[in-house]
Amino acid sequence: MFGKGIKNPRLVLVTGAGSGIGRATSLRFAKKGATILSTDINVESAAETVRLIEEKGGRAFSYRLDVTDNDAWHALAKQVDSEHGTPDVIVNNAGMGIGGGFLEHTKADWDFQMAVNLDGVVNGCRAFAPLMVEKKHGQIVNISSGLAFIPFALTPSYCVSKTAVRMFSECLRQELAPHKVGVTAICPGVAATKLLTSGKVVSKTGFDAEVQDRAQKVVGTFVEKVGPLFASPDYIARGIVRATKYNGGVIPVRPESWLGYWVSRIAPGAVRLVAGQLTPNRANAVANVGNNLAADSVVDRVLAVAESVTGA
Ligand SMILES: NC(=O)c1ccc[n+]([C@@H]2O[C@H](COP(=O)([O-])OP(=O)(O)OC[C@H]3O[C@@H](n4cnc5c(N)ncnc54)[C@H](O)[C@@H]3O)[C@@H](O)[C@H]2O)c1
Repeated sequence: MFGKGIKNPRLVLVTGAGSGIGRATSLRFAKKGATILSTDINVESAAETVRLIEEKGGRAFSYRLDVTDNDAWHALAKQVDSEHGTPDVIVNNAGMGIGGGFLEHTKADWDFQMAVNLDGVVNGCRAFAPLMVEKKHGQIVNISSGLAFIPFALTPSYCVSKTAVRMFSECLRQELAPHKVGVTAICPGVAATKLLTSGKVVSKTGFDAEVQDRAQKVVGTFVEKVGPLFASPDYIARGIVRATKYNGGVIPVRPESWLGYWVSRIAPGAVRLVAGQLTPNRANAVANVGNNLAADSVVDRVLAVAESVTGA
């Protein structure tokens, strides 16, 4: 009933292709011979991905696309269809994260998280699925998260957006299967990307701004220099290419995501117990201790050492 997947795509469109998992996925598909349509809200970073692909002898084009803009999606679909034809694969990857408890989110915070992570994916499917259905050919890959299996009180809007992406993908998969269009939800575990340090923190009683800025810089440099050794975005990209090949349904990538997937099915209470240890109250208490230590200049010294080691 479900399609066979696409082994050697000719044309692949990726959102959020200017960084992290999106860039790694673009490079992987390009290596397999696909022409890449590299889109991002930050068009310079999308163009840099094109440059990296061309440097390796591949073919790619960059476009500015804010995935929250439904009209822009439709304009892009029209342009792409006339200039290149219908993509064989579209990877709805663009995303961002907001950290902080639900009580700390404003309505605007919540709506923004849903607009980028959920509506961005839905908009992409609305623009491109009809073209694929018409051709009776195509694979849609939506990037969810391992946090789609874990009720994590520190990132409720992120968890809800990613769980919704997973369920939306499952519904769409059933609907498009008779049209020979596949739909996959990828649920990555941790990848060392800018997402880990560029996310918005809405917690109101967290670290003081100055401590947070310095710590984020240290963590960011660490993620950039050491992260790829143990949490490479390319590992996730490999999972995406493989899932496209076999039209996977819901595919966790990395051990921690598989663990969340299985334990949430077999023993959901255990997941609640573990995830429940990290509440906004506890995180804020840790932040307060950190701020007090910073006042005593202990954190200052720790950060200074970390800065000198990482070069942040
Ligand atoms: N890094 C992880 O640990 C991890 C884990 C699970 C899932 N994910 C998911 O993987 C996807 C890629 O994240 P990443 O880790 O590579 O992060 P990243 O920050 O490195 O890349 C995200 C890209 O999305 C772009 N983007 C953000 N808002 C956009 C918008 N409105 N329109 C178009 N582009 C926009 C950014 O400019 C950036 O290039 C996201 O959906 C994220 O939620 C990441």
